[in-house]
Amino acid sequence: MSKRLENLICIVTGAASGIGRAIVKEISQEGGVAIGIDIQEKEDPEVEMYSADISDEFSVDKVIAEIYNKYKRIDVLVNNAGIWAEGTVETTSLETWERIFAVNVRGTFLVSRAVIPYMKAQKSGSIINISSNYGLVGGLNCAAYVASKGAIVLLTYSMALDFAPYGIRVNCICPGTIDTPIIQEPMKRMSKEEIERITASRIARHPLGRIGKPEEVAPGVVYLASNRESSFVTGAVLSIDGGYVAR
Ligand SMILES: NC(=O)c1ccc[n+]([C@@H]2O[C@H](COP(=O)([O-])OP(=O)(O)OC[C@H]3O[C@@H](n4cnc5c(N)ncnc54)[C@H](O)[C@@H]3O)[C@@H](O)[C@H]2O)c1
Repeated sequence: MSKRLENLICIVTGAASGIGRAIVKEISQEGGVAIGIDIQEKEDPEVEMYSADISDEFSVDKVIAEIYNKYKRIDVLVNNAGIWAEGTVETTSLETWERIFAVNVRGTFLVSRAVIPYMKAQKSGSIINISSNYGLVGGLNCAAYVASKGAIVLLTYSMALDFAPYGIRVNCICPGTIDTPIIQEPMKRMSKEEIERITASRIARHPLGRIGKPEEVAPGVVYLASNRESSFVTGAVLSIDGGYVAR
């Protein structure tokens, strides 16, 4: 029996760590050709990695052209790379606000813009944007992040409408809290008591009673990438959040 993503050329941004790394592994296991893009220069024996800052127009256009010239098609794009910063509107610096939007929103725009002409020419493609539970509900002390993730949800709807006539499906995944460096790094600067408090409160906010693992997000990507399984799915928002936004 053929695998779910047999021979599909799949680009994943932010593939060097966390959810992106789990996604490229799952794609490879399902027979796809996983190609990672990340700002971190990391060798990975399991996946072909390209180094680029997705907020930089020139680097994005160059790396996508390079990948297309090698494979002559692009079937799937997973806009996964993202950054987080804490702060309310009062305490977020303009520099932080702009960097969050540059990576999370402009990055999603730039990589999609570079890939879409190839998908249009093929008359097929699947774009999967990784937003967040914080793209659907507000969050305390992370105003820029929440605003950027909300923008990704509505960008998904708009892209789904604009490119449906070309056979390109555009969907979005909203993970809840997932155990990756994006949540682990800030905890390195916290006291033991603070970490215990934050961990308990995170667990309490997820009705399934725990936070998630990157490997629990990746199968959602495979479903949305597979034209056999999700051929009539576009403009969808798939929550993989242990029930977080159901409250
Ligand atoms: N972990 C969570 O709790 C959680 C929850 C909801 C949504 N998300 C989203 O999932 C996505 C993946 O996050 P993660 O948890 O795996 O975090 P992570 O920090 O482990 O991975 C993010 C990856 O993106 C890369 N990256 C950052 N800026 C980049 C840039 N300018 N250009 C290219 N690559 C860049 C990083 O180097 C890293 O490899 C993010 O969009 C994040 O907002 C995460």
